[in-house]
Amino acid sequence: MAKHDIFNEIVVSQQQIVSSVKDIAWKVKKTYANSEKVLAVVMLMGAKWFADDLFRQIDDDEKFQVCYIRANSYQGGTESTGRVTISPDIKENLTGKEILIIDDIYDSGLTLKTVTELFKEKGPADVKTCVFLEKQIEHKEQINVDFVGLNVPDEFIVGYGLDYKQMYRELPFIASIKKDVIHSGELPCLEDVI
Ligand code: IMP
Ligand code: MG
Repeated sequence: MAKHDIFNEIVVSQQQIVSSVKDIAWKVKKTYANSEKVLAVVMLMGAKWFADDLFRQIDDDEKFQVCYIRANSYQGGTESTGRVTISPDIKENLTGKEILIIDDIYDSGLTLKTVTELFKEKGPADVKTCVFLEKQIEHKEQINVDFVGLNVPDEFIVGYGLDYKQMYRELPFIASIKKDVIHSGELPCLEDVI
């Protein structure tokens, strides 16, 4: 299957990704300039690509301690199931800690809201949120996101960590995927498309 059979259009180019990551890195650094330690919680899998680039850019391992949790509300499809599962459970005492929760995209807002609330219950000094992308929609759950990279249209998009059924995460750009690809059970391999 050729590239044009799968993607509608490139929504965010590789260049835009690089410059937006730099921009967020600068803002995050500035915000936490006086902090001693920040616990960055990255939501697997989607946010890993962004977080890797972000922390490489921030380049401050002394201050930013990075860990990963799994939060999933889609479970393989293109519509949110309305239920968020998280693993592992937060057992650690977070009293007094500064937390930065990082996700790939603010869509319905359900994931970020659930995860943020779970962390807030553990008594940290502060919880901030950071997403690489924000969908231009009326979010079901309104949340105040502290750091946002780019706005994207209300379409199902893949690439730079975002997947459709675990595919296309490795694309170096972000593209909207055609509806018939979403609905046909047959999916091309990554090597067919780039
Ligand atoms: P929420 O609806 O804001 O809870 O979004 C939760 C998660 O759904 C995000 O962290 C993404 O992993 C995934 N997601 C939302 N929109 C898209 C999309 O357009 N493509 C791929 N994954 C998406
Ligand atoms: Mg996700």
